[in-house]
Amino acid sequence: MTEHCPEIQAALLGYGTVGSGVYQLFQRQKHEFPHKLGLCPVISRILVRDLSRPRRGADPALFTDRWEDILHDGDIRIVIEVTGGIEPARTRILEALRAGKSVVTANKDLMAEHGAELFAAAEEAGCDLLFEAAVAGGIPIIRPLKQCLAGNYITEIMGILNGTTNYILTRMSRDGMDFDTALQKAQELGYAEADPTADIEGCDAARKLAILASIGFNSRVVLSDVYTQGISGLSAKDIAYAEEMGCCIKLVALARCTPSGIEARVHPMLLPLGHPLATVHDSFNAVFVHGDAAGDLMFRGRGAGSLPTASAVLGDVCEAVRNLRCGCAGRVGCTCYKQIPVKKMEDTENRFFLRMQVEDRPGVLANVASVLGNNGVSIAQVIQKARTADTAEIVVITDRVQERNFSDSLAVFSGMSVIRKISAVIRVYDE
Ligand code: NAP
Ligand code: HSE
Repeated sequence: MTEHCPEIQAALLGYGTVGSGVYQLFQRQKHEFPHKLGLCPVISRILVRDLSRPRRGADPALFTDRWEDILHDGDIRIVIEVTGGIEPARTRILEALRAGKSVVTANKDLMAEHGAELFAAAEEAGCDLLFEAAVAGGIPIIRPLKQCLAGNYITEIMGILNGTTNYILTRMSRDGMDFDTALQKAQELGYAEADPTADIEGCDAARKLAILASIGFNSRVVLSDVYTQGISGLSAKDIAYAEEMGCCIKLVALARCTPSGIEARVHPMLLPLGHPLATVHDSFNAVFVHGDAAGDLMFRGRGAGSLPTASAVLGDVCEAVRNLRCGCAGRVGCTCYKQIPVKKMEDTENRFFLRMQVEDRPGVLANVASVLGNNGVSIAQVIQKARTADTAEIVVITDRVQERNFSDSLAVFSGMSVIRKISAVIRVYDE
């Protein structure tokens, strides 16, 4: 079968961390393809920006810097977009779909912000638009949500969706590494985006959460719907205090479908060490899903890096090849058929860890407690930490409170001279 297996041509857009991994996996799997797929996909063109850069692993004759070489080549049936960013990736994907080519992409920026437009183009063209690698790298989560769990109402998705920040937090907590050194290591290992701001400030995880929530709840959630706070404000002190309290700090992405609307947010969270997400370290990602029929599910694996991400891309390529072979490309399209409102963050409820520097004199703690109480914020725990000169550091853990009430308390604190500094506000896990 291998010798006479017909080829099907694919083009690779991008030969960076993910693209070179995809090419490598095509080589590794080439003898398996005929048996798995009944066709043999081959990469016949590779698009890059800078043709003069040396490229390892692939025949130099495959490279081009002209998109038209791919768009106008009728033999190329599948376009694999692993360049990143919005433009020109968006235009190229639209053009590829309109030219009848199936598209596989790892581009979460694009799927989170232009998913509706791209799906409409794919549907009109009757082509596949597959994006398993866009969320949580090597972890299969898009296809499980869209297909395997189609018999469920999904009510909650909670995960660690960014490898770079999880790697940084792990190194800070386990090795006492400082933030910048840990970030540099994450970049060297190929986890970080070209501009790591999106990783650190939570936007990368927010984009992935928007995609997961849209699929899980069958209602479109876009990036601007997701409340987003990153890890740049966290200090080693907060990590140490969390550990003293039997917790760790993770950048958590949480989406819930409640009777009053969808909640979608990404922010640091104190998690008890016994929580399964607390055991997810380094660049590993994990996603919890709750379905009314399947119950609790957890998906865990490598969320970033060359081969884990390429694994998800290749899985999609195999799906596209099978669909083309059976003449059923575009089989599973957009699944957002509801319009559920997304709640504002101030309308959600949370528990808080509040660390502040206060004047060290009698009555100050009572002032703090009365501001919180006057705003309907109930205190679960107060700890007085270090004292220096006339300043005391106190940590307050609240019960579950309305986000708006907590913000109102912070606004009052900012006008009180006895409160010298609000050093940290971190949400605490609450079942
Ligand atoms: P990367 O290492 O920066 O590689 C990008 C590649 O795309 C390079 O080969 C670059 O060409 C090419 N490229 C960029 N802009 C181009 C343009 N306008 N025209 C032609 N070629 C262009 O990026 P990456 O880490 O592989 O990420 C690629 C995509 O995968 C992104 O959407 C990213 O979010 C997603 N992703 C990445 C990971 C990961 O772990 N890295 C995981 C999941 C998803 P040159 O080589 O000539 O510069
Ligand atoms: N920069 C991303 C991360 C890569 O760190 O998880 C995967 O999207």
